[in-house]
Amino acid sequence: MYIGKKIIALAHPNIALVKYWGKRQKRGNLPAVGSISITLDTLYSRTKLVLDPSLSGDVFYLNGVPGLENQQIRVQVFLDLFRQRSGRWVYARVDSENNFPTAAGLASSASGFAALAVAANRAFQLKLSPRELSVIARQGSGSAARSIFGGFVEMHAGKNPDGSDAFAEPLLPPEDWPLQVAICITSTSVKAMGSTEGMERSANSSPFYNAWVQASVKDLNEMRQAILIRDFEKLAEISEHSCLKMHGLALSARPGILYWNGTTVELIHHIRRLRRQGIPVFFTIDAGPQVKAICLPEAREQVRQELESFPGVMQLLVTGLGKAARIVEGQS
Ligand code: DP6
Repeated sequence: MYIGKKIIALAHPNIALVKYWGKRQKRGNLPAVGSISITLDTLYSRTKLVLDPSLSGDVFYLNGVPGLENQQIRVQVFLDLFRQRSGRWVYARVDSENNFPTAAGLASSASGFAALAVAANRAFQLKLSPRELSVIARQGSGSAARSIFGGFVEMHAGKNPDGSDAFAEPLLPPEDWPLQVAICITSTSVKAMGSTEGMERSANSSPFYNAWVQASVKDLNEMRQAILIRDFEKLAEISEHSCLKMHGLALSARPGILYWNGTTVELIHHIRRLRRQGIPVFFTIDAGPQVKAICLPEAREQVRQELESFPGVMQLLVTGLGKAARIVEGQS
């Protein structure tokens, strides 16, 4: 165990093409459906961790300020997993920084927990494999399991109550199909309802929930195939279907959950119009009002131009596909 040594890990957020929405078991945070995502480049969480035997609890800072109480608890419960495995009950100082807006539907919990898992693995010298780390990262946040890997990634729902088969694995490295992602920020306020609560309400009250879970297997099979043969049209079609279906599920909960604003809807129309005109681009949207436009590399500048001047788009972040979560300081 590295006492007092500074370990820094970096992980990128990811965007799901086949969405995760719903849990089969709350304990262990086990997903009801598998999911497929792309890990982004340029955007990241950078997490510094130092084990300090003088602490009587973990100390967590997010973007330079002490984390909120619920965040402190989430970090502590997460690091307990590493303490349990190592048998060493030492607490940590954790400083995490995101270079992108937090809580704006950009999955900062995914990159945050992936970076924390990688840093803690090193600090406690557990030598866990990336797959094992994805199982642990999942317990921080379901989507965090996918940020352990780069490029195209699949998360398995699994069946075991202990969650050992609910892991993520890479499908294709980023350089093998270097798609581009333009993130349209349409609001900077904190989202109305977090994913955890949104999916719980959907599962408990939507009449469509069972159909959603059943249909996910077909979406995953088709998406895996589209990625392996680099079929962009198919990728676009399944992604938009999975996204709209997930939002349809949220809308059909009681009370219904609507994550979009007016600009979100206008962007959906605009991106579909662009695709009809022959520009290889499609949209996806997570538990917030931001729209992510995904395109082939050759369409990047055209998509950027179309979206950055679009009414209601406050900021546009354009990025490619990124690598796996990794240690950047404190290597050996
Ligand atoms: C809409 O991973 O944030 O982004 O497991 O409860 O922490 P918890 O949920 P989280 O949910 C992500 C939901 C989504 C779709 C996706 O990323 O697959």
